[in-house]
Amino acid sequence: MAPSLILIGFMGSGKTAVGKRVARELGWKFIDTDAVVEQKKGKSISEIFAAEGETGFRRAEAAAVLSLLEEAATACGGEVISLGGGAVTIPEVLKRLRDEPLVVFLDQDVEEAFARSQDGRRPLALNRERFGELYAERENFYRTASGYAVDVRGRTVAEIAREIAGIIRERKTGL
Ligand code: S3P
Repeated sequence: MAPSLILIGFMGSGKTAVGKRVARELGWKFIDTDAVVEQKKGKSISEIFAAEGETGFRRAEAAAVLSLLEEAATACGGEVISLGGGAVTIPEVLKRLRDEPLVVFLDQDVEEAFARSQDGRRPLALNRERFGELYAERENFYRTASGYAVDVRGRTVAEIAREIAGIIRERKTGL
């Protein structure tokens, strides 16, 4: 069975940048589930939210995440899979993550996460107050779904990626 590293965390926690870097360090493939949903639908996340609402987006996200995790289990090489920030609110996804030994939570400061989410591509990051509430609703999901929490506050992508690659190398030698 090929190893998979699953990155979870709130919007703006750096999952994509860190995931790409860890994948490069380990020589693994990188997959961003948001990008897969956009590709399947032929629309941006904002367009999917506008046309189908959050419910429609979650439906597509659940299908994409579950099938990517299934495929990763039988892939030839390792994969780093970055999940959208709300994927952990989908009960089937949360349940499925229990079978994954390498789920890493990128623990970011909410203020910093909000600042980093102002790229106009995140429909749930338009209002600071709602953003904070969403984080409060989800924090426990991130913590319970992950085997590892990495504090990313004030750290560079390279530093965070090195720590995560280290966790994986350690696990491999410990097997
Ligand atoms: C969302 C996070 C986004 C994207 C969508 C909804 C969320 O992904 O899936 O805008 O509910 O937190 P990122 O965490 O990569 O920004």
